[in-house]
Amino acid sequence: MELKDKLKVSVIGSGYVGLVTGVALAELGHSVICMDVDESKIAEIKKGNIPIYEPGLGELLLKNKAEGRLKFSSSLKEAVDHGLIIFIAVGTPPKSSGEADLSYVENVAREIAINMDSYRLIVEKSTVPVETGERVRQAMQLYIKGDIDFDVASNPEFLREGSAVDDFLHPDRIVIGVDSSKARDLLFCLYSPLAAPLIVTDIKSAELIKHASNSFLALKISFINAVSRISEMVGADVDKIAEGMGMDERIGKRFLNAGIGYGGSCFPKDVDAFIHMSEVLGYDFKLLKEVRKINEEQRQIVLKKIKEGLWILKDKKIVLWGASFKPGTDDLRGAPAIDIIEALLKEDAKVTVVDPQALDKLKDIFKDKISYEVDKYKAAKDADCILLTTEWDDFKDVDFKQLKDIMRLAFIVDGRNLYKHSELDSHGFLYLPFGSSAVGKPIGDKKVI
Ligand code: UGA
Repeated sequence: MELKDKLKVSVIGSGYVGLVTGVALAELGHSVICMDVDESKIAEIKKGNIPIYEPGLGELLLKNKAEGRLKFSSSLKEAVDHGLIIFIAVGTPPKSSGEADLSYVENVAREIAINMDSYRLIVEKSTVPVETGERVRQAMQLYIKGDIDFDVASNPEFLREGSAVDDFLHPDRIVIGVDSSKARDLLFCLYSPLAAPLIVTDIKSAELIKHASNSFLALKISFINAVSRISEMVGADVDKIAEGMGMDERIGKRFLNAGIGYGGSCFPKDVDAFIHMSEVLGYDFKLLKEVRKINEEQRQIVLKKIKEGLWILKDKKIVLWGASFKPGTDDLRGAPAIDIIEALLKEDAKVTVVDPQALDKLKDIFKDKISYEVDKYKAAKDADCILLTTEWDDFKDVDFKQLKDIMRLAFIVDGRNLYKHSELDSHGFLYLPFGSSAVGKPIGDKKVI
């Protein structure tokens, strides 16, 4: 096998990770089948209707489909027949204990084993607990017919929603967990068109790299949020603290933005799963429990800040600028906005939400309990408070004079520390950011911890 060889690849599970992986591998020149059991989803994708909002994905999908490198199927047998390398990219949803539900992974491993008639390399792409590779191997050995050779590998993804395609094509690193030279060579060949450092490990280490990376990033965010509380107590500025810390290359400036905390389908789930996994192995990961606690508290602090400005929330119009867990996605999973809206509704506040992408999904959750608006100024009419929840570009550029005229009270809680104190001050706003002094005089209890 030459490094430049084009390989036959199948990706089982055409959700967020699977679809991005399949499309990007086709873009690298490989021949890819993306498979999913959901026939209607596959039928829609074949028509070019992508079930997720991910910049660049649609264009690349259509291009590679048109050029004949990318196919879609709901037949697992077809996928197994096609792919020399088979990625497992099915969901690993959390159980109530925080443990990852691996039944979809096990099911796919079993089905691959039953349908396989010659060597295959099975690669875990889903985020899974350590030792899943070993379990996949055992499950396959149980069901495989005859003496067919196969390898299992772990190749965790580090894709961020909103920039997943770019992350795939320009990665910081590619982690390959293998226990055979054949598996290593196949994955080398697969990724040879990418100019990224490759780190080769055993399978368990690769599995742990994924959980440790996400948990460490969550830890950075909770750390700066804890510092932001101290900073606020003494009247310092957490953004400056983060800047000063981040200039030390050993610390790095990214993921040190204080605010309402992390959300999404990855950090909360992966932190829970890492805590649970450690507990099962006999280690009490107290540090990560604290990371999670600090993150949950940030959402309560938001409510306290709104109360600092308004005291009683009943019948007050609170406008959330942003709903998705971060800009560039319509994903509401684990989004701080969801918990905050629920808390505001419990206080009988009137809630209006503005979001450029996530309103349809939000309507499915809150129906007519809240109002929805696409224009940030229209939404602000007669509002008692604006809470900036997601730093979409549209919320970066604000005419504060116009905003003040529209609102009933000139009051902003900034969950992302986006605005300049001096600007809000000059327009006479009450402005409550995270981790620095308020602008204007809050009326409620100032102690937020
Ligand atoms: C995260 C990781 O960044 C990816 O490397 C990983 O592959 C992915 O999870 C995954 O496991 O699949 P993602 O969940 O898309 O990606 O989002 P991030 O951009 O990492 O942001 C996560 C959350 O942290 C967001 O709610 C964001 O607003 C928040 N955040 C981020 C902060 O509150 N402060 C920061 O400084 C940075």
